[in-house]
Amino acid sequence: MGKYQEAFRRSLDDPEGFWGEASQGIRWQRPWQRVLDRSDPAHPKWFDGGELNTCENALDRHVEEGRGSQTALIWDSAYTGQVLKYTYAELLDETATFAGALQRLGVAKGDRVIIYMPMVPQAIVAMLACARLGAVHSVVFGGFAAHELAARIDHAKPKLIICASCGLEPGPRVLPYKPMVDKAMQQAAHKPSHCIVLQRPQHEAELQPGRDLDWNEAVKDAPKAACVTVAAGDPLYILYTSGTTGQPKGIVRDNGGHAVAMSWSLKNFYGVRPGDVWWTASDIGWVVGHSYSVYSPLISGTTSLIYEGKPVGTPDASAFWRVISQHGATTLFTAPTAFRAIRREDPDGKHIAAFNPAKTLRALFLAGERCDPETLKWAQEKLQIPVVDHWWQTETGWAVCGNPIGLEEFPVKPGSATKPMPGYDIHVLDDEGQEVSAGGNGAIAIKLPLPPGCLPTLYQDEAGFQRNYLARYPGYYLSGDGGYFDQDGYLSIMGRIDDVINVAGHRLSTGAMEEILASHPDVSECAVVGVADALKGEAPVGFVVLKAGVTRSEAELVAELIALVRERIGPVAWFKTAAVVARLPKTRSGKILRGTIRKMADGVPHKVPPTIEDPAALDDFTKTLSRLGYPKENKS
Ligand code: COA
Ligand code: AMP
Repeated sequence: MGKYQEAFRRSLDDPEGFWGEASQGIRWQRPWQRVLDRSDPAHPKWFDGGELNTCENALDRHVEEGRGSQTALIWDSAYTGQVLKYTYAELLDETATFAGALQRLGVAKGDRVIIYMPMVPQAIVAMLACARLGAVHSVVFGGFAAHELAARIDHAKPKLIICASCGLEPGPRVLPYKPMVDKAMQQAAHKPSHCIVLQRPQHEAELQPGRDLDWNEAVKDAPKAACVTVAAGDPLYILYTSGTTGQPKGIVRDNGGHAVAMSWSLKNFYGVRPGDVWWTASDIGWVVGHSYSVYSPLISGTTSLIYEGKPVGTPDASAFWRVISQHGATTLFTAPTAFRAIRREDPDGKHIAAFNPAKTLRALFLAGERCDPETLKWAQEKLQIPVVDHWWQTETGWAVCGNPIGLEEFPVKPGSATKPMPGYDIHVLDDEGQEVSAGGNGAIAIKLPLPPGCLPTLYQDEAGFQRNYLARYPGYYLSGDGGYFDQDGYLSIMGRIDDVINVAGHRLSTGAMEEILASHPDVSECAVVGVADALKGEAPVGFVVLKAGVTRSEAELVAELIALVRERIGPVAWFKTAAVVARLPKTRSGKILRGTIRKMADGVPHKVPPTIEDPAALDDFTKTLSRLGYPKENKS
């Protein structure tokens, strides 16, 4: 039996033994009494009775064990040209001081704190400082607008907000963040007591006396805070992610199971070794950034590289290779979109050849969206290193399925995310809950209990947790993705089976966009579907039916709808295309045929459902789609 098979089998047959051993990588303030309490498989209690502090595991422990002078964090900003390095001792110092500042403002164990910042080192300090106090951070991606931020403020009810005065985008364009926070705080019913603002020199924000504090003022003379002990099952963070409606889901992460999963996965999945410079090119607003820019590399005592910039446009498609060679990065983790963007600008890989990143780079990891085989093959050919596509979700916090090169490397099959990871008992089920045999498509479900690190519930919404994930197949977690196993046990993820789409690796809800379009006074009904996009993987396209008597120009109305989605969700929604239609194709029971519209737009074969209300509605749609340029001639 190979190493992978041995680990996988043991994780399912003897989870107590397997994860108990893995938990030795973590410093516990009080050892756990039981590895797993499975009296309620939907809510497994991992490391029951154990107590720890995640920040202590990420910082203090390394300093105490003699690694204080090792570089913990490298920050590279392509916009400002700055590079900053923090040793473990320095990062601990900054974090303990900032935690002291938070404590002085009344933040205590269990309090929520919202963080709305670009990729700057202080964002990581803020996360770790919350963890140090046992406070629960909730990072909100900077591409979300005030309305989305307000929804999270009202749901999480944070004691305070930490933000930066601005973010930077290619150009460089300066994007003021503070006005978004002001607007959100105005809109939200819940009023956080304070807002700490990191003033960046590119744009200084106005501060509201009494409520807002300059970061430097906040930390002035602040006493260093000690680590607060928390139970293994206490929450470390809430990360909101898109579901099928306008209300985002608050994914909860615990401390104990998460720390163990972060420590186990970096070594055994990613094959990271001491001294490695690990680079995850994802914003900390997403789960990939939480797990693999912050917690996993720091808990593992490695050097984490964070980057403020894009794969292209800052200044060109050589950006990633410049960063890798400048800092000696040994691994890169990013979204396939980044590679599609690079390939589009540098199809022959001239920049890659010039920088020769394989001098230090041992592997490339891709996740966050489906990786098309062409992109994967291009990366393999140009980089000449293993390219690992792996599948996971905000809900799981770490890889469900992948090629665990730290344990054993499997031959790559482009289009497949390889094999289930230890702890994940994956099944492909049909509508009746029966196992689909190899080669057949179905819903991807994971038999309960989920392994350490996965969500224990949704924040303040246990009913939603049950409804969204557990109700469909009793005894299983419903992933929301569809796919199939092949004869060799490789899993291919074919896309969401719900109304979630993935735009440039950013998870978005078409349902949320539909709610916004429907709120326009001229719209009677609407549909938004995710259509294949050569760069971003998917792009949302909207179709609206106007209320009787509305006679406005389509161009004017569409411009308003685009502006409305941008204002309510934010630029990250990338909602750029919409059309006015006379009617939407529906079944006789009134269900909009979104799946059929998507297939028509993608130019893939589709069947007209026998339950269609009026087949002529689809003929009209063919014309509308063609007017919008769908299906595209060349999709690669
Ligand atoms: N703060 C504020 N605005 C942001 C933002 C942030 N942190 N990140 C993105 N935006 C804005 C952009 O400025 C852009 O706005 P615009 O319409 O005014 O131009 C919009 O949101 C869309 O941004 P993005 O999706 O990044 O598109 P892009 O065209 O600027 O860049 C790529 C395209 C491919 C370079 C970019 O999508 C990318 O790097 N993708 C990698 C995906 C990734 O990291 N996924 C995370 C999960 S692993
Ligand atoms: P997020 O929660 O933002 O990480 O998005 C999770 C979703 O992204 C999954 O449910 C999938 O739909 C998609 N996804 C992530 N990784 C992959 C992958 N390797 N292949 C296919 N889809 C993926």
